[in-house]
Order: sequence, then C-alpha cells, then structure tokens
Amino acid sequence: MTDTFPAEEVVTSALDVVRTTDAEAATWWRQAVVYQIYPRSFADSNGDGLGDLPGITTRVPHLAALGVDAVWLSPFYPSALADGGYDVDDYRDVDPRIGTLEQFDDLVAALHAHGIRVVVDIVPNHSSNRHRWFTDALAAGPGSPERARYVFRRGQGPDGELPPTDWTAMFGGPAWEPVGDGDWYLHLFAPEQPDWNWDHPEVREDFHTTLRFWSDRGVDGFRIDVAHALAKDLSEPLPSQADLRAPDVLDGMHRFEDRDEVHEIYRGWRAVFDEYDPPRTAVAEAWVPAHRRARYASPEGLGQAFNFDLLLADPDAAQFRRTIEDNLALAHESGASSTWVLSNHDVVRHATRYALPAGTDLPAWLMSGGTDPAPDLERGRRLARAATALVLALPGSTYLYQGEELGLPEVAELDAADLQDPTWQRSQGTEKGRDGCRVPLPWTAHGASLGFGDGPAHLPQPAWFAEYAVSRQEEDPTSTLALYRRALAARRRLQTGEQLEWADDVPAGVVRFRRPGGWTSMTNFGPAAVPLPAGRVVLSSGTHTDDELATLTQLPGETTVWLETTTA
Ligand code: GLC
Repeated sequence: MTDTFPAEEVVTSALDVVRTTDAEAATWWRQAVVYQIYPRSFADSNGDGLGDLPGITTRVPHLAALGVDAVWLSPFYPSALADGGYDVDDYRDVDPRIGTLEQFDDLVAALHAHGIRVVVDIVPNHSSNRHRWFTDALAAGPGSPERARYVFRRGQGPDGELPPTDWTAMFGGPAWEPVGDGDWYLHLFAPEQPDWNWDHPEVREDFHTTLRFWSDRGVDGFRIDVAHALAKDLSEPLPSQADLRAPDVLDGMHRFEDRDEVHEIYRGWRAVFDEYDPPRTAVAEAWVPAHRRARYASPEGLGQAFNFDLLLADPDAAQFRRTIEDNLALAHESGASSTWVLSNHDVVRHATRYALPAGTDLPAWLMSGGTDPAPDLERGRRLARAATALVLALPGSTYLYQGEELGLPEVAELDAADLQDPTWQRSQGTEKGRDGCRVPLPWTAHGASLGFGDGPAHLPQPAWFAEYAVSRQEEDPTSTLALYRRALAARRRLQTGEQLEWADDVPAGVVRFRRPGGWTSMTNFGPAAVPLPAGRVVLSSGTHTDDELATLTQLPGETTVWLETTTA
C-alpha cells in the first residue's frame, strides 16, 4: 500500500458512528461486520418448520452479544421458494409464512435499538413467475405491452416450437421456457425466475419504488443479487451458447454479463440512495473478473462489491496474501473499502472446505454424502477459526454467514427427498446444490429442532448438530462462538483507519501485517509452531486460556493471533 501510515487514528467503529456525526454515519459500511441471515433457517417462532421474522427478533440478543454492526436479510418476500426466496412474487411485502410488514418494522426497531443496521436483498435480474406483471404478461399474449417488461422471443421453427437459442441456465437445462403460444421467455436461473427487461422504463421505475419503500421503512442498505446481469443486448442475430463465451467476447461485450450499460442503472439507484440521510448503501453481488469489480463499487454506483476471492482460495499463506493485496489495491481504485467473505448461502461452509484436501471437487464430495474424501473436521475447525481471525483483522467490511460463528460444518448427508435447491432437479440428480449450508441453526442441544422451533425443521438437522448448539458454546470459553465474540469485541476496540503494512520477514506459511494504532495480526497456515514477535497477545484463534496467552512465545500451526505492539 502506498498510503501514509499514521501511528494513531480516531476509532470509527460502526456503533460509535451511530451516535456521532452525519459524515461518519454515512460511512458506517466501510469497516462493518455484516451478518447474513437466511430467514427461513434462522429461528422459527410458530413451529411450522420455517424460520420467520418474529423468530429473528427473539434472537436479536444473540446478534448483539456477537457484536455485529449490521444484519443482511436474504429474501423474506412472498415466494413459492423455487430458489430459496430468490424468486420474488412481490418486492414490497413479506411472505405470510414468514411474517408481516409490521413484524418487519418490529425487527428493524429491535436491531436499531442495539445499534445494528439492516440490509435487505434486492433481486433485480428476475422476478418469480408468480409476480403480477409476469402473470399479466402470460395472459396478455404475444406482442403485448405486458410481455415487453420481460424477455420474450418467438421460438424457432414454423410454430415457434424450438427455443430461440441453445443457451443453458445457471441451474442446468435450457435458459428459455415455452409458454404455449410460440413465445419463449428467458430465465438465466430457474424457469420460475423470468428475467426482467431492463430497457423498459416501467421496470426501472418500479425498482426505484421498491428501494424507496424499504428505505422509508428504515432499511440502511441493500445487497444486490446478480448485479452484473441486468443489462442485456438481445439484438438479432443472437449468438449460440458456444459463441456467448467465445474467447474474443471482450470485457463488457458479453450479451448479458457485466455489460457497461448496467452502471447507468446503478447511477439511477445512487440518486435514490442519496435522497436519504444518511444515504442508503449497497453492495453488489457481481461475479465479474477482479479488474471489472471497481465499477460496481464506485461511489456513483452501488458503492461496494463483494470480493469472493478468499472464498475461492485455499487456506494457504501465499494465496491469502496475494488475494488480500490485490483486493486492497482494487478497493483503493474504486474509493470503496474492500469486502471479505469466507462463507454464504451459496457455497460449502468454510469449516468443511478447509477440512478437505485442496482441490477437492465439492459437488462430487457432496454427492458422496460427505464421505469421499473423508473430511478432517478438527483441521477444518482450526483453519476456519484462523482464517476468520485473519479476515477480521483486515481493513474493510467482513460478511459473516449465519452459523459460521458456531463453526458449523456443511451437512452433506441430506437425503435426495429433502433437497430443495433447484440445482438438484435441474441437474437431473447429478448435483445436490446448496441446501447443506442452509440447514436451520441449532440453538439448544435438545428439542424438536434443537431450539430452532417447536416442530421439525424444513431441512432436517443431523443429530451431530446438537454438539454445535449455541447453548453449549455459550458455556465453553474455547468454543468458536466465544472466539467470534472476543474477536468482534477486540476488532471494535482496535480497528482504526484503513491502512495495512505487511511484514515481509516472516517464516514460510506465515502471513503477518500491522494495522494503525499498533496492532498486528499473524497467521501460521503451516503445521509447525513458529516464534512470535514481541507484543501482548490479545486474541488467539486457538483454544488458549488467558494465562497461556500471557506467556505465549510460539504461534502454533494453523492458528492466528492478534498482538498489541508499539513498534512494527
Ligand atoms: C444469487 C443468490 C443465489 C440465487 C441466485 C439467483 O447468486 O446468491 O442464492 O440462487 O442469485 O437469484
């Protein structure tokens, strides 16, 4: 980093800025710890097996004790759950099985009362096939203004009986669905998720209305689903699937991925965000090459973008260091702060990824029921704790996924009959999909669904989930929950500025960097202990007692510590 490196800076943790100046309140997101809740699997208040908003409200004390700055709620809108709620029937309502708008307001009030901000998920690439505008489009017939809000095309062949192109959808199978009158509609994801036509002014206006609707209800920010795919060039002739991704399809020239025009849409959104004080924030889920990410994160656009590079990296010192350096440089370029993600609702949990040999084919491993290869869960736990402690020491914001604070591993043994992810059906039973990271949380070691609710959970919890229950971990100072709480509290105290200074003179397998204010994070990815530099150890991802920390001179393998130092 070329930044100057002040010895001391003013602490600007999110909770502090809630109560300080307007200028600081507008930048709360830059160094926030944001906790992702998958609402249907968090807490079930009425025993119907599905998590709900009142359930989350009852668990706000857990979030407050954890010490997060914000909560991001995955979709809670009315939905047939063809894709876990990312198939939205109505963007401005709550699924009646999950709650009501009043209960949403109660949840926001409870979170705000604890200084926790609220981020909601916006799914603008597609609606569900039950959205009013889509059912209107089907009823209105070919060539109608109603169909113009979505992407309808005539099929090929005399009666339009063949799809317009051979494009395939993300979840497998064709990306076009026939509607029986010669028209087909585009769905980049499941057939229940028709893509919007973003060239249509009513679509644009309606999303502005949605952003204002939630902003008016006190929402602080938005997570933007599939942010890179809204703008599409569907002029004829349409390319074949092979040509869509041909090597000469340059940056910004793909027919629907990461086109430059998408940023014009987000400039319009920024104007809406800026109608509010403090301005609403956004983070883009944009699966684009790293060098294209800055545009999503620009202050004129969404302001921040997910960086999934660590989520894709092995627990390896060189990979972590390179990824961190690259992303800090990219964030600097856009003016945003960086984001760090190790787990979310779409990927195998990191406690399990790190328990498997590097390069393991994760879909194949899931298909084996989690047995081939056999995971080393002890190692996975150690490395997951070390990686999380490292990430929490970085400048920028960290996104945590519900259950990772319990060290939950992936549930790989779900029966085919229990699977909900559309990937399973659409791949004809060759890929299990993402349900294994969406199994409802264990709050207690006993009960119908381990404290999740009074009845069986919508995705069955394995018996071993009881070992990971919140109630058990609360009693154990060496638990992963205790580590997360300590780490978040220490971060709140130590985190200042956004600079980072690498230590280069370190043993192989070690990543060490210093932060403003005189604290250092050091991770030993290797198996053997290495000497620790001078300083007071204030956090260890291992299971050291306070007495052990006070006399620690060696950093054990697969462990991170934070040290307070006065010199580099
Ligand atoms: C995003 C979501 C994922 C969803 C997809 C389609 O990638 O994270 O869960 O299936 O978009 O909306």
